[in-house]
Amino acid sequence: MKIVTCIAPVNIAVIKYWGKRDNELILPINDSISSTLDANQMCAKTTIMASPNFLDNKLWLNGQEENFDQPRLKNCLKEIKKRIYTDESKENIVNWNIHICSENNFPTAAGLASSAAGYACLVFALAKLYNIEGDISGLARRGSGSACRSIYGGWVKWCKGEAADGSDSLAVQLAPPSHWADMRVIILVVNESRKKHSSTNAMKTSMSTSTLLTTRAETIVPARISDMEAAIKAKDFAKFADLTMRDSNQFHAICLDTYPPCFYLNEVSRSIIEFVHEYNDFKESTQVAYTYDAGPNACLYTLENNVSELLAVIDEVFPTNAAREEYIKGIPVKTIQLSQDV
Ligand code: DP6
Repeated sequence: MKIVTCIAPVNIAVIKYWGKRDNELILPINDSISSTLDANQMCAKTTIMASPNFLDNKLWLNGQEENFDQPRLKNCLKEIKKRIYTDESKENIVNWNIHICSENNFPTAAGLASSAAGYACLVFALAKLYNIEGDISGLARRGSGSACRSIYGGWVKWCKGEAADGSDSLAVQLAPPSHWADMRVIILVVNESRKKHSSTNAMKTSMSTSTLLTTRAETIVPARISDMEAAIKAKDFAKFADLTMRDSNQFHAICLDTYPPCFYLNEVSRSIIEFVHEYNDFKESTQVAYTYDAGPNACLYTLENNVSELLAVIDEVFPTNAAREEYIKGIPVKTIQLSQDV
């Protein structure tokens, strides 16, 4: 028997991926940029066991047995098996059945990049199991697009690529976490329940109905990507924050432009947006930026020297008391440092 256990962190996009030009190969219509969070604080953990004695393949997600025959899992396995070097003289592990156990230490499918961490972890663990070398971001991409960015730590760009077979649609590290060592992420968990519209389905509907989507991908994102790369390189927080917030808002504008629309933000999410702008105005400098993925939970980027004051003010403005509990249920706050590579 061979056993491998890995952990992989969540990544939070600052320039969003939304829209595929190829659904089967998971090829995006635009480049995207994210930061990978500290794996010790928000991560997926996967154990894979391979044994010649296992009668079939099995999969458990967060303690519950799931159907192994999921198309994306199958795609990942198919691609991985193409990269395995088989030595006929040795026992051939590739023919053994496997048992996969995966869990997240944070809410699953609540717009907190759970599929990104999950598939990055799965592919990383499979690559270790089968001794696969070289870049594996293209393999993680076949599980969930955004997963390819969780393969690297720090600041990561997923280049959309041009090739029809997706061979150049890969993630690259722009900078390690040490580059911007005082960068912090605070997650405000507004709602832990599963989202109503999966990213995959909503993205498909956006592709076929939103006119804003193509305009954004073709005319806005390319310049935004190079401005973001420059802001990260120069550690220019004000520029970084401005681009991050505008891109998050534009992504949610596309969700509204999708027909029928998808509403990911709720009243609390919107009040956090207003709070961030008021806070920055009051401070007369940009100290914090928000971004939201396909869910209501806020990811705030700020620098270490602002964290304690910001947390104190958040505690004041968004008290976790009974009056707000109806829809807030308290906003647990986490301070998360950017991570090392997986
Ligand atoms: C809003 O990677 O979950 O988080 O490729 O269909 O699995 P699939 O979608 P997924 O979409 C993530 C979208 C996003 C933005 C981002 O992470 O860039």
